[in-house]
Amino acid sequence: MYLTEKEQRMLDGEEGYAVRKSMEILVALGNIYGADRLVKVGSVQVAGVSYHNLGDAGLEFLNELARDGQVKVLTTLNPAGMDLENWRQLGISQEFAEKQNQVIDAFSRMGILISCTCTPYLIGNLPRYGEHLAWSESSAVTFANSVIGARTNREGGPSALAAAFVGKTPCYGLHLDENRAADIKIQVNANLTKLSDWGALGYSIGRKAENKIPYITGIKDAELDELKSFCASVVTYGAKPLFYMKGITPDTENLQTPREIVTIEQRDIREAYDNINDDVDYIDFVCVGCPHCSIKEISEVAELLKDRKISENTEFWVATSRTAKQLADKRGYTATIENAGGKFACDTCMAVAPLKGRFKALATTSAKGCFYSRQNDMKTKMGSIEECIEAAVTGKWS
Ligand code: F3S
Repeated sequence: MYLTEKEQRMLDGEEGYAVRKSMEILVALGNIYGADRLVKVGSVQVAGVSYHNLGDAGLEFLNELARDGQVKVLTTLNPAGMDLENWRQLGISQEFAEKQNQVIDAFSRMGILISCTCTPYLIGNLPRYGEHLAWSESSAVTFANSVIGARTNREGGPSALAAAFVGKTPCYGLHLDENRAADIKIQVNANLTKLSDWGALGYSIGRKAENKIPYITGIKDAELDELKSFCASVVTYGAKPLFYMKGITPDTENLQTPREIVTIEQRDIREAYDNINDDVDYIDFVCVGCPHCSIKEISEVAELLKDRKISENTEFWVATSRTAKQLADKRGYTATIENAGGKFACDTCMAVAPLKGRFKALATTSAKGCFYSRQNDMKTKMGSIEECIEAAVTGKWS
């Protein structure tokens, strides 16, 4: 991979330890994937924030980088393993909280914005069309590539951090035109009537477009929250982190229609629910906000919880960014949700918080949330916000 004189000096250690280490990572990646150069990035999203996933080895790695590392571009953080303020209320142990705070402190010393959300595009890290990025959260990567038309590979935590210290990333994969062509056409002949149907659609397309880039036709309209949910699901269940949706996402006008064509019928959506939903009728954990709730979703939850009470056998979380929660505070949604017995889980989510062994049966709006909660040994049910609220109030799935 070609390096400019300045990049070579960075690799030689002229700018200190963190930059040298980062250049080593970027050069190694560039050589593996055949990049011919580094390209400037407009922003970075760093995943791998939960102490639950990092452990002491990860914390040590971060502390070493934080000794002299300063990010060169806007860099935001994915969810951590706990709500950074109200962790006690979510049942997080003191020991875990101390370690998680050390992780956050290391990121903070690097100059990273402690945003702790997987929807950076809703809180100010909004890329431009065509901008190169180094993002590492699969749902956000898919949203940036597909809905915005920016360009990013699905980075790992260390490679995203390396790009933040250097301000550049190796130019390969989804940074290049030739790798962004659609390779499977998906004609959707199904009606989507609720938010979770978009998760089910993502499941079906992800399974059919295994490691391909789908060009999706037949969808008439899509709201931001629906696209957000679809992005999380389609990449979790198998597709590449880029899709085109005719009439809805950028660059579909001159797109070459792929030869391979498959259809999605109503029965595929039903099958997706059958596969995602386990055979369980009680619910002890309900979580909405995967990806993190927008203010609109929070307002829907508040409206549904007016004059109702969460079952004492059920824990109910609204996972969201602290920014969205602050807006919810001002509009009175927080008070309504908390008066009903619900809890806000800011800065964190059901997949990265240490939940294994705490709950047995989850209800959620999110197909991705179900995927990761099964890894935490939970049975799962996916449905609309209304169905999730009903489960939270009754402790049952009906
Ligand atoms: Fe976000 Fe966690 Fe879901 S990172 S997309 S809320 S699994």
